[in-house]
Amino acid sequence: MGEGIRIDPWSSQQSTDYSRIRDEFGLGSVEGMAIPDPSLLHRRGIIFAQRDLDIVLDSAKRNDPFGVLTGLMPSGRMHLGHSMVIEQVKWFQSQGADVTIAVADLEAHATRGMSLDDCRSTALKEYVLNYAALGLDSDNASVYFQSRRSVVQRIGFTLGKRTTMSEMGSIYGFQGDTNLAHIQAPLVQVGDILHPQLEEYGGIRPIVVPVGVDQDPHIRLTRDLASRSNWFNVKTRKAGGLSVSLSIQEENALALGVDGRGRVDREVRNTIFSSIIDVLSSFGFSDLISNPKHGLIEIPGAINKDRGQIRLALLSLERRLGGLGLLPPASTYHRFAVGMTGDKMSSSRPETTIFLDDSIPDMEKKVKRALSGGQATVEEHRRLGGDCEKDVAFQYLNTFFEDDDSALEEIRRNYSSGRMLAGEIKKICIDKASEWLQDIDEKRRSIEDQIEDYLADDAR
Ligand code: TRP
Repeated sequence: MGEGIRIDPWSSQQSTDYSRIRDEFGLGSVEGMAIPDPSLLHRRGIIFAQRDLDIVLDSAKRNDPFGVLTGLMPSGRMHLGHSMVIEQVKWFQSQGADVTIAVADLEAHATRGMSLDDCRSTALKEYVLNYAALGLDSDNASVYFQSRRSVVQRIGFTLGKRTTMSEMGSIYGFQGDTNLAHIQAPLVQVGDILHPQLEEYGGIRPIVVPVGVDQDPHIRLTRDLASRSNWFNVKTRKAGGLSVSLSIQEENALALGVDGRGRVDREVRNTIFSSIIDVLSSFGFSDLISNPKHGLIEIPGAINKDRGQIRLALLSLERRLGGLGLLPPASTYHRFAVGMTGDKMSSSRPETTIFLDDSIPDMEKKVKRALSGGQATVEEHRRLGGDCEKDVAFQYLNTFFEDDDSALEEIRRNYSSGRMLAGEIKKICIDKASEWLQDIDEKRRSIEDQIEDYLADDAR
């Protein structure tokens, strides 16, 4: 066995062995999922993995509420890498999702030493303005600041009870000399991701978080802490169907019919069970095998597709009984765009990316110098053809600048057959990128004075 892949969300290392990441992290594939209107991102292989996306797609299909959430680090300038997440957010929004955006000002303060005031102005001028320019709709979107939404911090605190220093150490590599604000930051992020499910922020519903794999440790922590707090587990049953079992915890033992001495209180337990049976019957299941004493109900007639709906209904029951009732978040994972120099894209090295407010001549210079998949001489290029996988101009057309599938395919054919030269594909990329930058620049100007529309009340 090789060394396991370990990802530190605060360091800039990047592993790009996606199939290995998917296996090691236990992520689901997106192949074969019924994704409606397969967006630019999915069809072109930009999203390579997901967790629980089926629950989200199911809600979209039923026109049931669901949300998409992302967070931004309010430091530096917004570049192409950041725009990938926003494209996904927009796509979910177009499918009916409400949008929540966390400004990670506490995290930036803890891990990058920024003042909260600087965080605010960077978030608004640099990020929210560009999100608006990229076409995020303000109607059902709301931006908030971690530092101003105390419930986010409170959830982090409450769920913090369900993890330990050694678990945090093994997820994040924290050591004795790690400062405590840094240790709190992931718990605040847990609060970011879960709080939209609170009544005042929209209630129980699936929330999907589009991320790069660097954020997966946070997703896993959030999912683990939410499921540890759940009162009912819904699992697939070996003999077919689903089962619901009670998860007895210190907080819920009495409510779930376990008395002070650890014995089953039949009366309480039976009442709970008839509530669960009511919930299940409302879905039309009648062949239930109920075992109150062992805290187990089996539903042989259910299929896996029913799981999401049953879980949501049981979370509502959990809330009525006094529990938190939080559904673990779903997530999607996008590939990292290659940096223009062929290695990592990084805001600290401007030559590796295009910033959303780069001038056209600056962008042009970078594309001209970008890593090419062309051959050493024209003669060789005509004979062997260009390498689209390696060619930054092609990759950027694919990921960012060319929406039209057939136009992209034609470029691919011409370039890989050698008909199109490296200089020619760069020219196309420059033209398309110019249009893209100009369009964003115009939208930024036209929307500059409407940024308030994107802000939640507690962010104004
Ligand atoms: N940690 C994220 C980053 O480094 C920012 C963030 C904060 C975030 N809260 C979030 C991302 C919630 C996704 C969801 O960029």
